[in-house]
Amino acid sequence: MEEIKRIKVKDLLGMAPGKEVLAKGWVRTKRGNKEIAFIALNDGSTINNIQIVVDKTATDADLLAKITTGACIAVRGTLVESIGSGQAVEVRAGEITLYGECDPMRYPLQKKDTSFEYLRTVAHMRPRTNTFGAILRLRSQMAFAIHDYFHSRGFVYLNTPLITAADAEGAGEMFQVTTLDLNNVPRNKKGEPDYSKDFFGRQTSLTVSGQLEGELGATALGEIYTFGPTFRAENSNTPRHLAEFWMIEPEMAFYDIKDNMVLAEDFIKSLVRYALDNCMDDIRFLNDRYDNTLIERLQGVVNTEFKVLTYTEGIEILEKAVADGHVFEYPVSWGIDLQSEHERYLVEHHFGRPVIMTDYPKDIKAFYMKQNDDGKTVRGMDILFPKIGEIIGGSERESSLEKMEARINELGMSRRTLEWYLDTRRFGSCPHSGFGLGFERLLLFITGMSNIRDVIPFPRTPKNAEF
Ligand code: 4AD
Ligand code: MG
Repeated sequence: MEEIKRIKVKDLLGMAPGKEVLAKGWVRTKRGNKEIAFIALNDGSTINNIQIVVDKTATDADLLAKITTGACIAVRGTLVESIGSGQAVEVRAGEITLYGECDPMRYPLQKKDTSFEYLRTVAHMRPRTNTFGAILRLRSQMAFAIHDYFHSRGFVYLNTPLITAADAEGAGEMFQVTTLDLNNVPRNKKGEPDYSKDFFGRQTSLTVSGQLEGELGATALGEIYTFGPTFRAENSNTPRHLAEFWMIEPEMAFYDIKDNMVLAEDFIKSLVRYALDNCMDDIRFLNDRYDNTLIERLQGVVNTEFKVLTYTEGIEILEKAVADGHVFEYPVSWGIDLQSEHERYLVEHHFGRPVIMTDYPKDIKAFYMKQNDDGKTVRGMDILFPKIGEIIGGSERESSLEKMEARINELGMSRRTLEWYLDTRRFGSCPHSGFGLGFERLLLFITGMSNIRDVIPFPRTPKNAEF
């Protein structure tokens, strides 16, 4: 038999009928009658299946019996026009090869329970479902869109280290990295662990942000971005927090807070537009299946100007809402770190569009943010999104060595691990700004999913590191 090349389902569905083809994939469903079997075959290249039509009288019954949901097969046959509704073409099977059987009694996706909770317990298999196929394709497309956005604007992609001695956010939420024997930790005279005996000769952790190294890059290369895994040992069991998430952190020399905001708004709108322009099959599936306002919400963001307001103005609006009888779980007053209920009130209820909030109290923000002249606030900016809350966090950076040293001392942070960073302010310091976009928060928005565990293939959360 003449060898022919496998064609992906996505391409088969766009081809004209008439050709001899070879399709490979996993069986989604099999149904039929005495004479004919219809197999819906998917290979992950698209949300759509190709229909395989099998003449039962011409096919080995034992083989056909083994072709059950989840089984992997190759089908050689003719691409023909489909008479059934739902697809233009289908494959009239000639020869079928069974690569892998799939015991219906044991296959985890065979169960009636298709809840997201159940699927998280079989996260190693859930990419085989339509929903996770769509989400993971979108995730991949968005990663490409991010690189494309910065690449086309001349930003340099900078790889920052995952293992570090510095706490970039100063929040103490680091996972320690060590090769010390935990059953026999060497100790110094004070009785503390002796990290000079550790692998790196000092205490190290997984990074909470690539920003500090990103600033080194920006003050040399001009405009950089990072895109990589980030780790936070915060014990937040919420639908918006992961212990391991991916972050995109652009950092730009000579940008002030306004330039930073303009870039952030354009960036996020471009990504949403990219999704609408390039991933409509998957988005439409998610829209129709779970949330029929998804497409509208995505288009809404692309077409509206974000509302810029200061933290102080935001608090005033929230205080007025409380005075008018609106009940928040957490009390509102100047100085609080806004809760997601507050952010969502402003975005969804008050303004009805994304909000860029600026000039936060310095006590709730990181040490590196540029201090305002009022002595109370810093030039930070968060972008708040419908259904998500904070999706981007950023700021203009403090460029004065003196002010930054004062703030580090005031906060009692370890200076020793930041000396290299202070060199950016010591030698040729410049005004600069940057921000961080949580990749999974973006995906929550684009897919309409409500739990962050469902937009990353293998979620890491407190008490969960399986697969
Ligand atoms: O606001 P964050 O903590 O800011 C930074 O890390 C800065 N270094 C960014 C910068 O200016 N270069 O985090 C930035 C974003 C948040 O807005 C959120 O989208 C996401 O990262 N994020 C998380 N996403 C998932 N799980 C978590 N635990 C997250 N923590 C932050
Ligand atoms: Mg933040």
